[in-house]
Amino acid sequence: MNKTRECAWEYIIMSTISKKIGVVENGRSIDKLNERKVMTVPNFRAQKGSAPLVCLTAYTAHVAHLVDAEADMILVGDSLGMVIHGMPNTLGVTIEHMIMHGQAVVRGAKKALVVVDMPFGSYEESPEVAFRNASRIIKETGCTAVKLEGGQEMASTIQHLAARGIPVMAHIGLMPQQMNTTGGFKAVRDEVSWQAVMLDAKAVETAGAFSVVVEGVAEELAQKITNTIGIPTIGIGASAHCDGQILVFEDMIGLFPRVPTFVKRYGNMEEMMIDAIQRYSTEVRERSFPADEHTYKPKKS
Ligand code: KIV
Repeated sequence: MNKTRECAWEYIIMSTISKKIGVVENGRSIDKLNERKVMTVPNFRAQKGSAPLVCLTAYTAHVAHLVDAEADMILVGDSLGMVIHGMPNTLGVTIEHMIMHGQAVVRGAKKALVVVDMPFGSYEESPEVAFRNASRIIKETGCTAVKLEGGQEMASTIQHLAARGIPVMAHIGLMPQQMNTTGGFKAVRDEVSWQAVMLDAKAVETAGAFSVVVEGVAEELAQKITNTIGIPTIGIGASAHCDGQILVFEDMIGLFPRVPTFVKRYGNMEEMMIDAIQRYSTEVRERSFPADEHTYKPKKS
């Protein structure tokens, strides 16, 4: 798509969204958005120890626009494989998936820091391969940073990327891309594994990560990590002791059937959608939709 058409399209989408959900029905969020500064990597990092960082996933422009009104960071997580594409886990997610959803989210988000996940197989081979794929993600989506899973074993890769202009958010503790070696999505509760996770946290900080997602670890360990390292810890299933929190958007709004212990549902969109689909189908079958107000009349010349 050429740049002029892309901009025109973006303008139409954003002004329609703003009219529908932003200015008219949700003026408060838009006012707040206007007051906020664009979140940068140094500012995100500097928020360690002050106000908790609010982070959520998004995979589409519209959801990114809504989340942007509140969130400091939006993650285009590889959880999109499960949540959007119906995969059993995240291992089948490709760079092309991440780029397509990353582009949509960057179009929808104006203030939050947008971070895109590096999918399984796109960074583990070598720091050079990781740089090639991370730079492609940044060039083609316009996101600011990438996230990758791994601690000590990924330190040289994080260092390589960070030294070459690619901000990296690390991800330690429960690492979904490791599910075949760990035997599933297993929280780190056993005290014997705590030391390794602490070493991972220190290694990613030393390597130059600007922040780290800490997933599925016991409360005490999350607290120790947060108190030990100098970069913000973003918890998911890692207690309120982290410097910020992240949830998968669909989990939070009740649009995904699996509800892990650490998820709090702030809405039940599935119920609302089922209700809407049932009412629509009833009205179509009884011919009460479309009604007169949904029907075009001849134009009088
Ligand atoms: O892929 C994802 O959504 C994530 C979050 C769960 C942190 O990595």
